Amino acid sequence: MQTSQAAKPPRQATGTHIQAFQPRSLADILGQGPIVAYLRKFVANPHSAAMLFEGETGVGKTSTALALAAELGCDMAAGDLGGVRVVASGEQTADAVRDAVSFLQFIPMQGSGWKVLVVNEADRMSTAAETIWLDALERLPNRSLAVFTTNHTAKLSDRFQDRCLIMHFAGDSKSLAGDAGRLLQRVWRECAGTAVPPRTERRLLKDAIRDGCLSFRRLLQLAEQELLVSRDRERGRSPLSPEPTLESGKAAFSMEVAESAGVTGSAFITRRGPPASLRNLRESVPMALAGGLGAGEHRPQLSLFTIGGR
Ligand SMILES: Nc1ncnc2c1ncn2[C@@H]1O[C@H](COP(=O)(O)OP(=O)(O)OP(=O)(O)O)[C@@H](O)[C@H]1O
Ligand SMILES: [Mg+2]
Repeated sequence: MQTSQAAKPPRQATGTHIQAFQPRSLADILGQGPIVAYLRKFVANPHSAAMLFEGETGVGKTSTALALAAELGCDMAAGDLGGVRVVASGEQTADAVRDAVSFLQFIPMQGSGWKVLVVNEADRMSTAAETIWLDALERLPNRSLAVFTTNHTAKLSDRFQDRCLIMHFAGDSKSLAGDAGRLLQRVWRECAGTAVPPRTERRLLKDAIRDGCLSFRRLLQLAEQELLVSRDRERGRSPLSPEPTLESGKAAFSMEVAESAGVTGSAFITRRGPPASLRNLRESVPMALAGGLGAGEHRPQLSLFTIGGR
């Protein structure tokens, strides 16, 4: 735990790098220059539309859709009420689509009034669902944007594709290597306070590639593991050690929250921004546990790492 408020304390390697480095705006989206350039123009002069983000896994399709929603003024913390809804991955039924379409018809209570619906893994929708979309996409309500994401565009009908602005996300390792290297450097700088060792960088970049495609998600996961292992190696103990790593005051504080949340395992939480309030902790502890992080230790224990804003 970094207790002093000194400028830019190193982040801890905590099990949630993917959240900690989640893009918040289009400026944070790496390796997708032409798409970001187009979307900036779109944001400057927006209109109701359907977009299809296609590309390999972990290259920023969902992140870009959410960054776009934020830039259109949706209140990202307010969910439906703020004008943003993410339809969970998986097969969409006709009823699910009707519900999604009705979301686009509402005027959100918070935010700019824009509604952004993100439909992940759109290729898994049923034929009935696709038929409803064909009709709905031709008469989208004012200030509404539907963003579909897919790894398999060919599974969607031509008629569906024709109704969408299609954006192809780069995934090939050569074009993403530079940005991936910069992301790794940033992770190391912020988490370890050092530059990433060249050999580690080469290895992680190589391991983040499958079939010639690089996944930023995979890269962050690998960085996570590497940082945890190297930190514990430095301390001469197993990475699986359940020993608390917090100063006693904070540990007691987080223990209290952990117990009130019924924690029986250990959890690692990454937070950004100002020190967490008790209320935020009460919400984030069960969320972290629901994510399945570090469960299964012998006694209630919570390791909480507070991270300064970036
Ligand atoms: N282009 C990117 N720029 C910055 N970070 C990225 C980018 N792509 C992915 N990431 C990181 O990886 C995580 C996962 O990315 P995201 O969910 O946007 O990928 P995706 O393309 O939607 O993948 P999938 O096809 O598996 O749904 C993000 O939260 C972010 O931390
Ligand atoms: Mg996605």
